[in-house]
Amino acid sequence: MESIYLIGFMGSGKTSIAEMLQQKLNCKLQDTDKMIEDQYEMVIPRIFEEKGERVFREYETAVLKQTDNEDTIVATGGGIIEKEENCNWLKKHRNVFFLDTSWEEINRRLVDDELRPIWNNQNRDKKQLLARRLPVYREVANFIIKTDGKAIEAIAEEIVSKLDA
Ligand code: S3P
Repeated sequence: MESIYLIGFMGSGKTSIAEMLQQKLNCKLQDTDKMIEDQYEMVIPRIFEEKGERVFREYETAVLKQTDNEDTIVATGGGIIEKEENCNWLKKHRNVFFLDTSWEEINRRLVDDELRPIWNNQNRDKKQLLARRLPVYREVANFIIKTDGKAIEAIAEEIVSKLDA
């Protein structure tokens, strides 16, 4: 199977859906945020604090390119589409799924979040960020999956049903 890439905004459920897919399809799991933390030996809030977003984005591009092309579910960071280079790379892949979650739902899910530097940055307009990113997620993905009001299991099933036989 060609690897499955999950893209979408923070709080769209990429990590939980990736874990569910991994169980269902019995394949590997990679998470670009986790790959960055392991490789650069620093947690994401600290990378943002000490090195800044630009460096974080460079790390993100490097690990995206290290992901496996076969038999792997790849959960990406919400900002993976910030760099055109990443978008072009993703467009060369077939199983790119955009998890399309509404602003209201994202807000509900991330209300207590303390680990996402962009979400917790009071100077950033997150609603506007989502609006700016939306067309890019749509353009990069081969499949768009609406997630509001759906259980993780149902979303994973929907993704599996779209894969080539
Ligand atoms: C980011 C999303 C985060 C993480 C970093 C930046 C973003 O990943 O990569 O905090 O720019 O949207 P999640 O989408 O898994 O929260």
